[in-house]
Amino acid sequence: MQQMYSNNKIRTKRSMTGNGLAKPPLFSLENISVTYGRIKALSEINLKISKGEMIFLTGPSGSGKTTLLKLLTKDIKQTSGKLSFHGPDKLFVAPVYQDLKLLENQTVEENLWCAYDKKIYGTKKYFASEVKELTHLLAMQNRMDLKVSLANGGLRHKTAFLRALLTRPDVLIADELTASLDYDNARKMYDILNLLNVKRGLTVIWATHNRDLINKFSGKIIHLDNGRIIHSGQSCFM
Ligand SMILES: Nc1ncnc2c1ncn2[C@@H]1O[C@H](COP(=O)(O)OP(=O)(O)O)[C@@H](O)[C@H]1O
Ligand SMILES: [Mg+2]
Repeated sequence: MQQMYSNNKIRTKRSMTGNGLAKPPLFSLENISVTYGRIKALSEINLKISKGEMIFLTGPSGSGKTTLLKLLTKDIKQTSGKLSFHGPDKLFVAPVYQDLKLLENQTVEENLWCAYDKKIYGTKKYFASEVKELTHLLAMQNRMDLKVSLANGGLRHKTAFLRALLTRPDVLIADELTASLDYDNARKMYDILNLLNVKRGLTVIWATHNRDLINKFSGKIIHLDNGRIIHSGQSCFM
């Protein structure tokens, strides 16, 4: 079977197919504000996110990153402004929030198998081969039998990350996913996302307060401060 994740000519391909084409936005936020009691978590946000975009949402703690993600996953509603979803019935958004929602008493492998869907994969063998390839790429293949409650922070993050990707979402939303990972591991995750972005048009919205890390990757940075977008543009990646 052809290896899905082993192509490393990713960047070339994206530059050939990307940017010039107008894509309808998946998410459109117009003058969105969110308040929690007296706290204004987001103020007059205007933002469009199109299919296939790789977005890094940056900003210090408390700047509104999680609030913005929760709007996109419909976990909360805006206080004012308009939020539109393109094709809301079909769009499949997989969030990985900081609580990870792992099955603590089950193994890493059992957690990954939660993503198995016969309609997508057909055979279990095909799903298993994808699990094998992805877990190798994240160097976790020897930890598959470990009970999740005994796993360290990095392995927990990787498990939640792969479980979300294995559901084959249109949009992956990740909240501080790399908090307990070093650069090498964050890089491995990024490479997988980049490949899926090129191969399947996966849209990625990845929130982190670690701007130094994100600047090493290629994508669009949206920087929040105190609930406002104060910068939007390509990362400094060369
Ligand atoms: N459920 C909540 N109730 C009250 N205040 C909240 C709640 N969630 C977030 N906030 C406040 O909203 C602001 C933005 O928070 P958040 O979106 O979590 O930021 P970030 O993810 O960038 O750290 C902060 O001032 C935070 O304290
Ligand atoms: Mg947060």
